[in-house]
Amino acid sequence: MPGSIIAGVGMYVPENIYTNNDLTKLMDTSDEWIQERTGIKERRFAHRTNETTATMGIEAAKMAIERAGITAQDIDFIIFATLSPDYYFPGCAVLVQRAMKMKEVGALDVRNQCSGFVYALSVGDQFIRSGMYKNILVIGSEKHSFVLDFNTRSRHISVIFGDGAGAVVLQPSKDDGSGMLSTHLHSDGNDAEMLAMYNPGSHANYWHKDLADFDDAELGEMFESHAMIDKYQNLPVMDGQAVFKKAVLKFPEVIMEALNKNGYQPSDLGLLIPHQANIRISRYVQQKLRLRDDQVYNNIQKYGNTTAASIPIALCEAWQDGRIKKGDLVCMAAFGSGFTWASALMKW
Ligand code: ACO
Repeated sequence: MPGSIIAGVGMYVPENIYTNNDLTKLMDTSDEWIQERTGIKERRFAHRTNETTATMGIEAAKMAIERAGITAQDIDFIIFATLSPDYYFPGCAVLVQRAMKMKEVGALDVRNQCSGFVYALSVGDQFIRSGMYKNILVIGSEKHSFVLDFNTRSRHISVIFGDGAGAVVLQPSKDDGSGMLSTHLHSDGNDAEMLAMYNPGSHANYWHKDLADFDDAELGEMFESHAMIDKYQNLPVMDGQAVFKKAVLKFPEVIMEALNKNGYQPSDLGLLIPHQANIRISRYVQQKLRLRDDQVYNNIQKYGNTTAASIPIALCEAWQDGRIKKGDLVCMAAFGSGFTWASALMKW
């Protein structure tokens, strides 16, 4: 069966812009440090109460659905990728189904962090190829701001992330050579704790006895405890250098895997849309693959790292800017927490 095409793409970012200088009022950091180490100039933060991961995803979805020339009632499957869901459970996909008054279609949440969108695309593509569904809505959305710690102790994490959403509608290709060529998914759980948020969770220190500094009484109320909050152990953790080292290895590898599988070389790429993790990671990948500037899309400067939303936001902007034309070879690639990494190669 032919692979899927992206029939419509949409995005939504909150109005509130936070520049690097705004962050210097909250923590000991500087515009120079942030730009030099990450490339980020500003990011968007969602309204504390009026915007959620699901509502941002819904706005992006409306745009993608309209551009696909269909209605929400035509959607026959929803896949929602996020690490910052509105509820611990249920997932965000059902909130989309409800808010957009869709039919009682399947609704799946994907928990693969930065590679979440590419994983979700891959799942959607398999359902299109099998003939099971004809109009799949794939959303990546994040409201990181509600869990970021805007204190100097977390500055190496908090300056990186931003909020936003992107969405696409997948449909079967029209047999004109366009569409998804292949997707490639990988993981290595050995470093699962290097970029993570352990709590609240059911682990009770099972994986690493020294993961958290709780006594037995505190462990009794482990899922969500006062001690956890008092000790700041309900916040994300990241070993930035370990993430960096693995990312620069796996990004080129998984892009080359997709190109090799389909008989292409880096020079054939119309556009590479890497997960917007860090401009230095993207530049390293560009150099390694000997890509020209016009072959790589970067917009981390404006939005920071929006995890599962970063690729669909970048895809949407690239398409709006005329950077993707019919027949172009487009590769989306991601690496992130887990670690997991993935690529998707398509003919636009
Ligand atoms: N402002 C000012 N100084 C800071 C900040 C900040 N925001 N954050 C850390 N520093 C300081 C540290 O305290 C340290 O100071 P010291 O030398 O006095 O101890 C110094 O800067 C260097 O700290 P490192 O953590 O070693 O800095 P590094 O050069 O590794 O840069 C960074 C940190 C940007 C996180 C880098 O490791 C990185 O880019 N890693 C990749 C991680 C990544 O991309 N994560 C995104 C999520 S995962 C993904 O999307 C793939």
